[in-house]
Parts: sequence; structure tokens; C-alpha cells
Amino acid sequence: MLMVGAGRHQRRAIERAQELGLRVVGVDRNPDAPGLAAADVGEVVDFTDVEAVTEVGRRRGVDGVLTVSADRAVPVVAAVAEALGLPGIGTETAHAMTHKVAMRRLLAERGVPQPEFAALRSIGERRAALEAVGLPAVLKPADSGGQRGVFRIASLDDLEAHLHSALSESATGEAIVESFHEGLELNGLAVARGGEVELLTLSDRLRPPGIGFGVGWTHLYPSTLYGDVLARVEETVVRAIHALGLRNGIAFPQVIVSDDGESRIVEVAARIPGGQMADLARHAVGVDLVEIALRQALGLDVPDELARPSFTQPLAIKFLTASPGPLPTGRVASIGSLDKVLAFPGVVQAELYLQAGETIRPVRLDGDRRGYVIAVADTNLEALERAEAAAKLVDVIVA
Ligand SMILES: Nc1ncnc2c1ncn2[C@@H]1O[C@H](COP(=O)(O)OP(=O)(O)O)[C@@H](O)[C@H]1O
Ligand SMILES: [Mg+2]
Repeated sequence: MLMVGAGRHQRRAIERAQELGLRVVGVDRNPDAPGLAAADVGEVVDFTDVEAVTEVGRRRGVDGVLTVSADRAVPVVAAVAEALGLPGIGTETAHAMTHKVAMRRLLAERGVPQPEFAALRSIGERRAALEAVGLPAVLKPADSGGQRGVFRIASLDDLEAHLHSALSESATGEAIVESFHEGLELNGLAVARGGEVELLTLSDRLRPPGIGFGVGWTHLYPSTLYGDVLARVEETVVRAIHALGLRNGIAFPQVIVSDDGESRIVEVAARIPGGQMADLARHAVGVDLVEIALRQALGLDVPDELARPSFTQPLAIKFLTASPGPLPTGRVASIGSLDKVLAFPGVVQAELYLQAGETIRPVRLDGDRRGYVIAVADTNLEALERAEAAAKLVDVIVA
């Protein structure tokens, strides 16, 4: 198996692949990427260079190619798979599921509900773009992720002030503005097999107030929505996945449900999401997304036993963030043990990614989440209380 990208998330997938009896070739441009050491063979290659990655795959005689959690690697994996004649989602679908303008155009063609949108490449287009979508709006790079370069826009001046940052996060120098929609955000996990879509989970993605408005700082399963409203969300995400052409693969749909009950697609990624979503699937419904992705990358059948929920366990994931959040902002002086957190009733998993000397900033990006606590309970709200109470026991001292 050729693993494209060998960062922290990929490392776990590499180890899982090895547990399942596969030999793994990892590529990453960073020679110190943790996954390179874990892989059976590690090669230092910048994965934006499709030809170089293809050459590694050909030379090593790989049977499959995959990435986990790295959105930028999704089109690369699709292109390498095509070049080597291996199973993949196809370069067209990969583009539609990583490039926000292409995605919006396809969804619009198929009548899937979504925000108003306009693409822009230069400051001269700002006025026309805002006229098309109205205010408030959201500005994003057309092809990036993890909330990098995402801004809430309240005026033409705001757009002018932030456009450069958004464009600079885009590999193709393109941005998108969208109508901003208030509401509850739901994140889904779905598996497409032979063109059939199975929706495994829909969970609430709660977000902090302020500049981090897009960051998932709490996931709650099952969703607090129910009945017809939830059924409409399910229908919308399945339609979106079909519209984008994903026939075999894992999909990560994100939807905002407004007070009027209308659900609009934020985006649908074609990969296992980062941010502990694979852990959510494992704890909440007993599904191993990594095993499914590995099997699909090899062109193996994914039986129902692997792809369908085997139980339903309410849970909450609370991310460790600061301002707001349980962590302090500032330079980290010391980090206590997580023993108390892990011993808290219902807590099934917790981690901190912090080192003394690092600086904790107010939460703005996905990357400002410095750890998490996962708790289970009989209900989602009780799980949330437990995760929040346990998160307060994390003891990090700043200078
Ligand atoms: N049109 C919108 N209206 C309201 N909130 C939005 C909108 N678009 C994005 N957001 C918020 O910002 C987050 C990040 O946007 P997204 O398009 O998913 O970018 P990224 O690729 O960085 O994840 C979303 O999950 C959502 O919380
Ligand atoms: Mg997103």
C-alpha cells in the first residue's frame, strides 16, 4: 500500500494497515514525518509532485494507494491510482470533492441545496461577488482545508482586507465567497460502495463563538436533531454524494441546518476526516473506517459486516482549545498527566498534543485544537457533560 502523506493521522492508518497484514510504502516531503519511520519503506517525496509519487508506486510495485485526512493529497492519490491502473475515486470526482468552486457548480447543477456562491481571483471582482451572495458572507480559499484562510465577512472592506490571505492559501490562486448561514452544523460519515451510499453517522458539530466560528470544538452523537428535519439532512447528504460522483470511497459531508429547517451543504470531503472522526465511527457505531478505506484502495469487496453500524453508542468529543475552551492561552510551562481525565466516568479516550515551550493561541483553525476527550454515556447530552467536566481536569500551566 502506498500511503501519500505520513503525518500524525497517517501514522495510525499505516500501523492499522500493517496490523491487517499489508506492507506499507510511505511518502512525505518531511523526512521527520512520524509515519515514515512507521512504514515498512519510507521515501522523502513532496506529494504535490504527482509524477514523483507515481514513480515510487511503480518502482515499489504497490497494489493500492491511499491517503487519510489530508485533503490536498486526495487529487494526488486519484491521479496516481489512474496512472498505475489501481482502484481510486477518479480524478474528476477527486477534483469535485476538493475544489470548492467545482463542488458548488456540480451541486447547483443537480439542485442540491447549498449557500449562494461566487468565485473570485482578484480584488477587482469583490463587489460583483458580494452582490451575488449578499452579507454576511464567508470567504474561503477554493482549495484548502482545516479552516485555513476562512473568514466571516460583514462588509466590502472585510472582503478587501482578507482576500489576499484567502487567495494565498489556494494552490490555484482562487477563492470563493458564500452566503453565511446561521444554524446547527451536522457532520456525516458515509461509505459509498458500488455507487450505493451508506450513511453511518450524523453528529452535531458545535462551534465556538468568534473568529473560530468554523472549528468543530465539540462533536455530539447522535445529533440533537430528529424526525423529519434529520431525515431531510440524510436525504440531502446522500444526494450530494451522488451528485459529486463518489461510487467507492469514504465521504465526509458537512451541512448547516437553519432554523427554518432548510439544510445546506457546506462541503463533502472524499476521505476519512481528521479531528477524531474515525474514532467517532469506532466508538459510536463500531465501524473501522481505515479498514474500509484500505480494502477499497486494494479493490477488495467491503462486506456489510464492515460497512454497517454494529451498535449505537451516544458519545461526545470535546476538543481542548483556548479562548474559549478549557486551556489557557500563552507559552506552555508544564503539562500534567491525563490520568484524572482518563479515570473520569465515561471517558474512553483522551490525548493532548502539546509540548512545553509551545504557545497556545485563541482558537481560530482546526490546528488550534490541542487535544481531545471522548466520553460515552446513555445519552448524547450526558456524554457531553462528562466530556466537558473531564476536559476541565486537564492541567496545563502557562508562563
Ligand atoms: N456558508 C457558510 N455559512 C456558515 N458557516 C460556514 C459556511 N461555510 C463554512 N462555514 C463554517 O466554516 C467551516 C469551514 O468551512 P469549510 O467550507 O468546510 O472549509 P474547510 O475546507 O476549511 O473545512 C464549516 O464547517 C462551517 O462551520
Ligand atoms: Mg470543512
